[in-house]
Amino acid sequence: MVLTPGAMRRAVWMVAAAAGVVAGAAAAPQLAPGRPVLGLLPAGTVLLPGLRLAHTSPVPSVAAGPAPVTPEPMERVLWNFTVPGATVDGWTESSDGTARQAGMSTGAFKLQKTARFQRAVMFSLLNPQPNGAGFVGFVSTGNWDLSQFSAIRLRARAQGENFHYKVYLKHHGEGASVGGSYESYFEMPPGQLTTVTIPLDSFAFYYRGQLEPGAPPLDTADITSFGLQIYGGVYSEFKQSGVASLEIDWITAA
Ligand SMILES: *[C@@H]1O[C@H](CO)[C@@H](O)[C@H](O)[C@H]1NC(C)=O
Repeated sequence: MVLTPGAMRRAVWMVAAAAGVVAGAAAAPQLAPGRPVLGLLPAGTVLLPGLRLAHTSPVPSVAAGPAPVTPEPMERVLWNFTVPGATVDGWTESSDGTARQAGMSTGAFKLQKTARFQRAVMFSLLNPQPNGAGFVGFVSTGNWDLSQFSAIRLRARAQGENFHYKVYLKHHGEGASVGGSYESYFEMPPGQLTTVTIPLDSFAFYYRGQLEPGAPPLDTADITSFGLQIYGGVYSEFKQSGVASLEIDWITAA
C-alpha cells in the first residue's frame, strides 16, 4: 500500500499522537522502551521519502528537545454536498449539446435529498459523433488559491455505462475565449463509493481534447473555473456513449 502525502501526514500524525507527541507539548515525549512505533502502521505501509516518524528510537534523549511534530494535514472543502443547506447553485452545464452546434449530448447536475442522506448527482447522456466527439460537463466559477495543496479529492460513486471522467480547471479568469483548459483524467470503479485523489501537478493543458505541451503550467494560486466532465473519447483509445451517473459527496483540496 502506498499512502498519498496527505494520508502519510495523517499516518505520521497518528503515530506521533499515539506515541504521546502532542503539538505544543513542553516535555519531551516518553516512549515505553522497545515499543514498536512502526507497528502502529498497517502492514505493508510504504513510507514516502522525506517523511520521517517523529521518533523511532525507543528512549529519546531529553537533550534532543521536543520532537518535531508534523502538523495536522490541511484539507480545504470546496464543496460538501452532504451538509444540510448545501446546494448545486453555481454549477452550469457545459455539454456539447449546449456549447456546440453539432452536439447532441446532455446531462443534469442535481442535489439528491433523501430522508437519510444528501449528495449531488451528475447525470450524463452521451450521444457522440461517429468519431467519439461529445461531452457532458458542469462548471463552477470562483476564485481558489490552492497553492498550499497538492491534490483535488473527490468522494463519489459512478454507475451506468461510462466510468471515465475528467476534472478541468481554468486560471486567471480565462473564459471560453481561451478555448482550452487544464485537465486531469480519472476512471471510477463501477458502483463503489470511492475517494479519488487527483494530483494538481497532473493537470495539463488541452485544447479541444488535444494535449498542448507548450502551454504554461496551471497557476494553482489563481484557479477561477472548476469543471467535471464525461466525454466521448474522440482522442482516446476507448469510446464512451450512453448514460451514466456520478454521485458526489464532496470535493476537497488536500
Ligand atoms: C462533509 O460533511 C459531512 C457531514 O455531513 C462530514 O461528516 C464530512 O466529514 C464532510 N467532508 C469533508 C471532506 O469535510
